[in-house]
Amino acid sequence: MTDPNDATTSDETETTAPPLTPMSLPMLLARIEHEWETRKRIFDLPTARFWKPDTHAGGGGIDLSFEFLGRPAASPIGPAAGPHSQMAQNIVLSWLGGARLFELKTVQILDDLDIARPCIDMETIGYNIEWSQELTVAQSLEEYVKAWIIIELLKRWEPLHEYVGAPDEGGPGPHVFDMSVGYDLEGIQSEKVAGFIDGMANATDEIERLRAQIPDDSVFAQFRDIDIPPNISDTITLSTFHGCPPDEIEAITKHLVAEHDIDVIVKLNPTLLGPDGVSAIVHDTLGYDYVELVPKAFEDDLPFDRAISLIDELHRFALDRGHRFGIKLTNTLVVDNHKQWMPDQTMYLSGAPLHVLATAVLDKLATALPGRFMISGHDDGSDDGTGGDIMVSFSAGVNKDNLADTIAMGVRPASVCSDLLKPGGYGRLAPMLKALTQAVGDSGSTDLDAFRAARLAEARSGGHEATVQAHLAHITGDDLASYHLTGNEKLPRSVDHELEMWGCVACNFCVTVCPNDAFFKVPTPDSLATEIEAEGGSAGRQQYLVFSELCNECGNCLTFCPEDGDPAVIKPRLYVDESRFDAADGPRFLIGTDGSITASAAGGAEGEIPRLLKVLGADEGLPLPTT
Ligand SMILES: Cc1cc2nc3c(=O)[nH]c(=O)nc-3n(C[C@H](O)[C@H](O)[C@H](O)COP(=O)(O)O)c2cc1C
Ligand code: SF4
Ligand code: SF4
Repeated sequence: MTDPNDATTSDETETTAPPLTPMSLPMLLARIEHEWETRKRIFDLPTARFWKPDTHAGGGGIDLSFEFLGRPAASPIGPAAGPHSQMAQNIVLSWLGGARLFELKTVQILDDLDIARPCIDMETIGYNIEWSQELTVAQSLEEYVKAWIIIELLKRWEPLHEYVGAPDEGGPGPHVFDMSVGYDLEGIQSEKVAGFIDGMANATDEIERLRAQIPDDSVFAQFRDIDIPPNISDTITLSTFHGCPPDEIEAITKHLVAEHDIDVIVKLNPTLLGPDGVSAIVHDTLGYDYVELVPKAFEDDLPFDRAISLIDELHRFALDRGHRFGIKLTNTLVVDNHKQWMPDQTMYLSGAPLHVLATAVLDKLATALPGRFMISGHDDGSDDGTGGDIMVSFSAGVNKDNLADTIAMGVRPASVCSDLLKPGGYGRLAPMLKALTQAVGDSGSTDLDAFRAARLAEARSGGHEATVQAHLAHITGDDLASYHLTGNEKLPRSVDHELEMWGCVACNFCVTVCPNDAFFKVPTPDSLATEIEAEGGSAGRQQYLVFSELCNECGNCLTFCPEDGDPAVIKPRLYVDESRFDAADGPRFLIGTDGSITASAAGGAEGEIPRLLKVLGADEGLPLPTT
């Protein structure tokens, strides 16, 4: 890969984000149909990475379902608010992989901001500077409704039943969309954001408008008139990032419960441990000496004592109004940008060290509020009669290796962001669920409640008060290496070769690490291989191309590409939207609906048209039908 530290300075890297241009519903459906016919994949995910619940009609199997604030979901994992829950195809990909709880990308009133690029750095642990949604609020609503509709269509589509389960045989099971909003009361009260929340609670108009777009010649036309539940979401996770003051958190939560009749989760930050507590873990225990904390982040954020009174107050407020309340641990940690690969002065840390921080926050909160949380060992009733019913959702460095231990703590769901940005991408979800299924079975249980009970008994017999303490002891003891700097220093693989438009080591990483599924691959046609080899080059097994409208230059494929160069810039950049093609620069190609190709004048793109025609005209070809 291009060494981030050598490649650029912050001034050089700063660019204005190209606007993401979502694909229309008909185009997404056409892409699904065409990919299935030509590749047996959907949005580049092979069927081997689809998840099928292990429950069968008539009983048997391991049941991974849980209740999210009282709503059923067939698995306890899903994408955390971030790049995997912004666009329709991202959400569908997560669903195919087994996600059943979706914390949607945070929506806020400021919806035309320029995010500096690159904005994601998953080279070792995780950092990002992606502090806002990139779509307009109206586009976000449309993306979420499109995803909701596509999942309803796919559930009924017979060819998929073999891979995700048939509805009458226990699969694919229910799923929940959870909204995420931020960051201040005024914005949340605005017509724009209030309209979004109401539109998600009752999306009848949007569903009717979109379902009419399902083309007559689509395999999905048979489902155009199915019942699609209009209540897409009536829960909200409040993102309290960026120093949202305690009184604001209180006012927003009460406003959402009282005015929108909604169950609320407040997403808290690792700053709850205070600077000394965070430093003790990040520096002393985990060895990340180079991570520089930002004092202001602690000054602006919710202090621990206030968090305790706030959780108590908001829980009671919600209960009094017949609503449920929960907390989410945690958002990312604000740190100084020591790498300067991404342009902003601060960046947000996620992944392995955050897992330890979030577990420590949970331990501290559970100790301070005994019997109040719905987590193992604490959910057996509190002295004041409120019971342990504050749900705890978790997102911090969750991966295949720690998912079972995380779920054993009693959190629901465990949502994932950084791990899905690593090679394998959405394809990492199904193996996580397989590992969880195995762990549940190994504990002698057939569902998550029994699994948690078994793990609680095990923790107590090991001398721990509850499973949270057992997990914290494990990740800072026996399993410290998985979270310590020394276990997280390895850089992505790199080869000494300049990346070119055609041919590469064909590792497929650009396809899988892209949260937007902007990349696709096509097997190299023989004629192209012969031509490139005659020139002394190597064509590689596959050619990689990018749908540029879906690329926001986040930088994640640049990080993981083993060759030297940026795949999103060097590989053939295709456009299907003429205005976006016209507005862009650099070598690029416009694909007409009839399959015709127009090249930009820049960078010798015209000369590449014959090769592009060979690739797109091959059997798998462009993953979109042409007339
Ligand atoms: C690129 C990126 C974008 C994110 N965007 C949001 C967001 O819009 N809203 C939010 O509440 N959290 C956001 N997060 C935080 C995640 O939802 C999650 O809480 C955090 O990354 C910890 O999980 P992880 O260690 O699995 O990444 C983002 C994280 C990343 C890495
Ligand atoms: S193609 Fe690369 S830069 Fe573009 S969105 Fe995907 S991962 Fe990010
Ligand atoms: S362009 Fe994509 S497939 Fe080719 S080497 Fe880079 S990451 Fe791997």
